[in-house]
Amino acid sequence: MKILVINGPNLNMLGIREPDKYGSESYHDLVEKIEKHCRQAEIEVDFYQSNHEGDMVDRIQQAYYEDVDAMVLNPGAYTHTSIALLDALKAVGIPAAEVHISKVEEREAFRQISYVREACCFTVTGHGTDGYLEAIDFLEEKIKDKK
Ligand code: DQA
Repeated sequence: MKILVINGPNLNMLGIREPDKYGSESYHDLVEKIEKHCRQAEIEVDFYQSNHEGDMVDRIQQAYYEDVDAMVLNPGAYTHTSIALLDALKAVGIPAAEVHISKVEEREAFRQISYVREACCFTVTGHGTDGYLEAIDFLEEKIKDKK
């Protein structure tokens, strides 16, 4: 089983950006934490981070041509604005889970919309970086059932 973890804008600034909301772990720490989790679960994992919407669309499309079984996606602020990411997820039809480190539903009104959610089979918010692991566990079960 192979999972692709995609992080959007400013998530490369984890640990530096608003630690009260996003915690003190860096993006590198996040990658290591997910790698360890996946190693234990014998899941192959690949990572992608970009601050650019179109590049994220390209990476999602590319996943269609690879043997990616599922995707974990934290689109950052593009969650609340990007129909292009929603369309890309729908286009490839790869099971996807949406992760937010912060509890977006308790934040500003503009964070209450998630365009990508419609194309995701699982959403986790407000569990810090553990949310990524929860999403992976969910997807693993889902894929296992299918195979
Ligand atoms: C975020 C929440 C978004 O509203 C914000 O723009 C981010 C991070 C989160 O992980 O909590 O960049 O997706």
